[in-house]
Amino acid sequence: MKILPGPASKDLGEKIAQLLGVQTVPVFFKNFPDGESYVRLEGTVEGETAVIVQTTSPPQDTRLIQLALIADATKRNNAVKVVAVVPYLAYARQDKVFLKGEPISIEAVARMLKAAGVDSLITVNVHQQNILAKLPFQAKSISAISLLAEHFRQRGFKEAFALAPDKGAIGIAQEAAKVLGGDYGYLEKHRDRYTGLVSVEKKEFDVKGKTAIIFDDIISTGGTIVAAANLLHELGTTKVYAACVHPLLVDEAERRIREAGVAEIVGTDSVPSPVSKVSLAPLIAQALRELQSG
Ligand code: R5P
Repeated sequence: MKILPGPASKDLGEKIAQLLGVQTVPVFFKNFPDGESYVRLEGTVEGETAVIVQTTSPPQDTRLIQLALIADATKRNNAVKVVAVVPYLAYARQDKVFLKGEPISIEAVARMLKAAGVDSLITVNVHQQNILAKLPFQAKSISAISLLAEHFRQRGFKEAFALAPDKGAIGIAQEAAKVLGGDYGYLEKHRDRYTGLVSVEKKEFDVKGKTAIIFDDIISTGGTIVAAANLLHELGTTKVYAACVHPLLVDEAERRIREAGVAEIVGTDSVPSPVSKVSLAPLIAQALRELQSG
């Protein structure tokens, strides 16, 4: 097995290789003056399982094309198997036709990757687990929620309340609560499909006088966390924290979240950012060990 750290996940790719004790193949990349992507493998992958580590956070389209080009180069250079490790899988949220005339974007993206040479894919906390079975290759999603919760536990946040900002994320809150040893709950969330505005409603739980951590897969505009944090404060929560696997933090998200009284945001290096305090490297290394042995 050899690891190819893609331009979007160079540090993470190198950390994974180090943990596994395997060689890396550097990937040279540049953009042509007209904006097209160029990549070149600076090493050999012949006869190897080649693992490309490339997240697809913004600029998503460029990063997806880079991934496809690296997969093509890898196959052409006679790798026996091409595994794409894509911690943040772009377009996974458009997993069905919500409004007439829309595509199923994640299926279109996966077909492109398959055509480029990807044989299997590992991602982290994919938005909906059930999309994986519809992709044209073997695909697996691993969860980083326990790692995030462990980060808080080690800092003394035992028994903090774990909140999922919507019903779909209830499993995430449950997983975090197992590590933290406290209660968990969820909110009912509604997002207007046209304006993107988020509103939340409380379900049955008690957070008065407690410390709460909002756990989510993605923080994008921050609208979800802001709405959840406002409600938690209204309900008498003492201190509110936010944790997510994929800190996209677009535009002014970080500022908006802090202004909503969130004491700290903790994310992973799925998307390198100033809040990426937890590394996915051990989790992904373990998934690759299992892939190799099974
Ligand atoms: C959606 O259901 C996801 O789990 C996240 O809650 C959402 O993507 C976060 O987006 P934003 O930060 O823009 O509210």
